Amino acid sequence: MKRIFSGVQPTGFLHLGNYLGAVRQFVALQHDYDCIYCVVDLHAITVWQDPAELRAATRQVAAAYLAAGVDPQRCIIFNQSQVPAHAELAWIFNCVTRLGWLNRMTQFKEKAGKHREQASSGLYVYPNLMAADILAYKATHVPVGEDQKQHLELTRDVASKFNFDYGVEFFPVVEPLILSAAARVMSLRDGAKKMSKSDPSDASRLNMTDGPDEIAQKIRRAKTDSEMLPGPGVLDAQGALPEETRKARPEAYNLLGIYAALSDKSWAEVLGEFEGQPFSHFKQVLTDLAVAVLGPIGEEMQRMTGDPGYVDGILKTGAEKADALATPVVREAQDIVGLLRP
Ligand code: AMP
Ligand code: TRP
Repeated sequence: MKRIFSGVQPTGFLHLGNYLGAVRQFVALQHDYDCIYCVVDLHAITVWQDPAELRAATRQVAAAYLAAGVDPQRCIIFNQSQVPAHAELAWIFNCVTRLGWLNRMTQFKEKAGKHREQASSGLYVYPNLMAADILAYKATHVPVGEDQKQHLELTRDVASKFNFDYGVEFFPVVEPLILSAAARVMSLRDGAKKMSKSDPSDASRLNMTDGPDEIAQKIRRAKTDSEMLPGPGVLDAQGALPEETRKARPEAYNLLGIYAALSDKSWAEVLGEFEGQPFSHFKQVLTDLAVAVLGPIGEEMQRMTGDPGYVDGILKTGAEKADALATPVVREAQDIVGLLRP
């Protein structure tokens, strides 16, 4: 069976964007692939994390996977730091990757910003650790958002260069499985910004653990415009929403897109349903749907994080299974490189 590897960083609260853009799709993929889902805590510490919050966020991401329906019998769920093979292989990749490649990474430039000299060296070599995550399992398919595409290209380059330098056919060339753009969820306060864990305004996002009242309040206050809702006439011949159209009313299309994603309906169906209506009625329907979908998941997450024993047990078993897969691969890579194991 084809093997999937993906990861989410335990930094801050998980929100609707993480659910629709990642976690929900992880659940769907488990039926067709052999899946490994990681909580990438070593990636998280490339920028400062409060230790207690890091522990809590690690359990929260694992709880989100479980509550959303990732089956721990079928998939491996674990946190990265518990499997030493990731860091061991990352070191080898630090020696394979060229500085020129890392200098092109847009995520580093964004995260380091103007204070490049103050960024950690871990943040700079972040993509090498990500390549190690994937290649330690010889994973072939990696579901990620559009923003991670460049890191996957680097993973392919690292695998090719390793194979070429050592004259082997050892690491596979990975296929990105770019998750659907329809699931790009924008901030509830500003349709031009992505919904994000790092947005200082909590009103900008629906957290996966928000209760019905919070969901209702945030949707009621979500930014809209003064027009009525558009109809299917705005779609192109393929039934897709043209980028220009979206940009003209970003908040309206964001809410409609969220409704489409949560209800598994097409743009045409959703626009047909609400054409010419005011936002007030639509927001009520959207609230009911969001509460119906997120409510039970959020409650289950709260229950699990309230009793960390269960989550910790899953992570421990997951780490043992992951270690059994990754360690032999990394030992073989070390042999190829000539690292002696007397
Ligand atoms: P992050 O929150 O950046 O660590 O991302 C974790 C996962 O959630 C990645 O696969 C992202 O692509 C996805 N994700 C994060 N924010 C959004 C968003 N606003 N819309 C859709 N997907 C998202
Ligand atoms: N860099 C990814 C993100 O920020 C998280 C990640 C780390 C990852 N290692 C991975 C994703 C390996 C896929 C495969 O979203």
